Amino acid sequence: MSEIIDVKNLVLIYSDGTKAVDNISFNVQEGEFFGFLGPNGAGKSTTIKILTTLLRKTAGTVSVAGFDLDKQAADIRKIIGVQSQETTVDGDLTGRENITLQGHFHQMDPDEIKKRVNELVGLVGLEAAADRRARNYSGGMKKRLDLATALVHKPKLLFLDEPTTGLDPQSRSTIWSYLEKLNKEEDITIFLTTQYLEEADKLCKRLSIIDSGKIVASGSPVELKREIGADSIRISLENCQRDINKAKELIKSLTDVTQIIDSEECLTVYAKNAGLLIADIVRALDSSDIRIASVTFSSPSLDDVFMKHTGKRIRTEELVKAPSPMWGGARR
Ligand SMILES: Nc1ncnc2c1ncn2[C@@H]1O[C@H](COP(=O)(O)OP(=O)(O)OP(=O)(O)O)[C@@H](O)[C@H]1O
Ligand SMILES: [Mg+2]
Repeated sequence: MSEIIDVKNLVLIYSDGTKAVDNISFNVQEGEFFGFLGPNGAGKSTTIKILTTLLRKTAGTVSVAGFDLDKQAADIRKIIGVQSQETTVDGDLTGRENITLQGHFHQMDPDEIKKRVNELVGLVGLEAAADRRARNYSGGMKKRLDLATALVHKPKLLFLDEPTTGLDPQSRSTIWSYLEKLNKEEDITIFLTTQYLEEADKLCKRLSIIDSGKIVASGSPVELKREIGADSIRISLENCQRDINKAKELIKSLTDVTQIIDSEECLTVYAKNAGLLIADIVRALDSSDIRIASVTFSSPSLDDVFMKHTGKRIRTEELVKAPSPMWGGARR
């Protein structure tokens, strides 16, 4: 695999003095689904704008598909597709006309545009709405039209700036399917920014986590989460005071337990494979007549990774999930 994006020591300082990108370096391999995960104001859009030639960097070197950003911006523009954070659809035009117009901007042959437009409305599931004015599209439909528009000239590298922000879970997962298809079946390299942990986790083969203009961690979602070390199982006992010591002894003897600590609910067990261990714990306590009030289990998430590196959480609506209770209430 070769590098399709190579960024070294990139800095962007806005005219008011805001340092939005603070000396970042990263690369993206051809064919990769690469992500930039970070909270509001982290510098994601600024980075995309630089890489897509819309904003002039303050310092650093950038090459895209082997072209130097400073000297060969026009060559870069030919091979990239961009979906910006704000939708750019023209409400007076129909979906089909929006895509067609973009084809003309890329100086494509009219017959070719027509064929491509048909393909694209199918790809993003807008057949039924393609001849309606885009003004009347829902938010999700506008995002899908935007995506189709960015794809008209068959870019080999696609930049997506928060393609699902503000969408309902259903539309979000529809867009995820299109993106996976584009990456796998059409071999398009994708650079995606998101503030959704679940989105980065699901789609990106590799990602960088960005905060206050700096990259704080990079790797595959699995690698990054593995660094956290262990899952946690929080156990609440009906009679914690009486049973805690005995419970600790029993749990300590089980394999894969890394640590047991006293915690708010009663005790918390850290383990490599918590999912598998829960049944053993329940069985062990049950056979010694220790009654469990509830057990909750959580695996490390990218939010734990963000927490580890920044001391903060990325808080985004529904996607920071509370651990789900697996057993609750009185037993027996
Ligand atoms: N034109 C501008 N002039 C001055 N500061 C700016 C400008 N545009 C963005 N900024 C600042 O630069 C920083 C990074 O902004 P940017 O838009 O890149 O963040 P982001 O990661 O895309 O955030 P979001 O998730 O909210 O879209 C922020 O502090 C922002 O206020
Ligand atoms: Mg942004």
